[in-house]
Amino acid sequence: MLKITKHYQLSFDNLRTNQQLETIKQKLATRNQGWLDIDSAIDIEKIEQVTSKLKNKFQSIVVLGIGGSALGVTATLKALKHLYTNELSANTPPKLYILDNITPEFIAETLDIIDLKKTLFIVTTKSGTTPETLAQYFYFRELINAKVGTEQARNNFIFITDPSKGTLRQIAINEEIENFEIPSNIGGRFSVLTAVGLVPMALMGVDIRAMISGFKQAQADFQAENETQNQAFDLAYQQYQNYTEGKRNINVLMPYNNKLFSFSDWYRQLLAESIGKAVDLDGNEVHIGITPVNALGVTDQHSQVQLYTEGPDDKLFIILKTKENHPNEQQQIIKTTDENFQFINNITFKKLLDTEMDATISSLVKYKKPVIEITIEKLTAESLGYLYMFFMLSVGVLGELLNINTYDQPGVELGKILTKENLI
Ligand code: PA5
Repeated sequence: MLKITKHYQLSFDNLRTNQQLETIKQKLATRNQGWLDIDSAIDIEKIEQVTSKLKNKFQSIVVLGIGGSALGVTATLKALKHLYTNELSANTPPKLYILDNITPEFIAETLDIIDLKKTLFIVTTKSGTTPETLAQYFYFRELINAKVGTEQARNNFIFITDPSKGTLRQIAINEEIENFEIPSNIGGRFSVLTAVGLVPMALMGVDIRAMISGFKQAQADFQAENETQNQAFDLAYQQYQNYTEGKRNINVLMPYNNKLFSFSDWYRQLLAESIGKAVDLDGNEVHIGITPVNALGVTDQHSQVQLYTEGPDDKLFIILKTKENHPNEQQQIIKTTDENFQFINNITFKKLLDTEMDATISSLVKYKKPVIEITIEKLTAESLGYLYMFFMLSVGVLGELLNINTYDQPGVELGKILTKENLI
């Protein structure tokens, strides 16, 4: 479903040993991470049953959540729905808004465009205690209580949270609010393929069964492929070598597709929080991490590529290409009689896009910058499911290569604790 091309032969390729992948698979299996076995944790029947009941009841859906509870929802929405889905005419309700911040203007201006009574709030928090998300819930709950009464207001909410821990779970139990579980052994940034991503997407009419079959394929490929073919391992290994040997501590993810730009935001959290760690698994102070940077082709050719080519050699470039961007792309033919622009006469935007992408890769290679090109045939629910799992697997492998705990986030937790302390 996906093909990796390496455009710059890394001089340290020989560090790899044949035993490595098998050892890593064994280590991954001991980490008790639910995302490696997500399929068994998804209650697809319940998701379909609840979402089909709710589908036509609301004009708008607002997701209240932050970090891993929001980024995958945005990424999936942007990737699989029309880029202007909320602006499309009346035949495509509901509209989906993702409220992943607490800036007063974001809250106020969201309120300006929704009808509270006709809005379903999906409150998503793995821990069930994240102050931003709980604050949003309490705020909107009061507003709806005031409009329809406390009892009735329950129907405007769905919770997605830990099966037993956290305040949100407690509220769900006390008030009998419709809810879905995020398995306790799946952390926020690894949760997009659970109810966190699947419930809002089912409500938006995305084929979630296809997403599931896509991520299962990625898992099967990872298990079946040996070290020379294993693409998730290959990506992780390139990142690892570039970081440790090449001293390249920045990874730029640059899709040549607007629909995948938010996917880079999702990946940014996954890579940053999973790999940025103070100590390794043996307790040594290491302070390691790879800084993820998002770029968009071709837009950022006119903003970032000067730095990427001529600037410091501290980056690995991961270019994401879709072979087919849009079903009508072959009809988008550019016509001009202008003699200075005959080079774009009679070609499609897709041709121009691909040519520019190849030119950017060639420029980077000329300046001896490492480039990995990842190609998918077509962006579909299935290939997106595959991509999510592929990148999670590569981050899981990278964490093992670096000998760190990929799954904790003490630095994030500290901020949560200090916020609470400062407000008491
Ligand atoms: O990856 C993580 O666990 C975190 O970054 C969370 O996604 C983020 O802090 C939000 O947490 P929660 O889903 O518990 O509200």
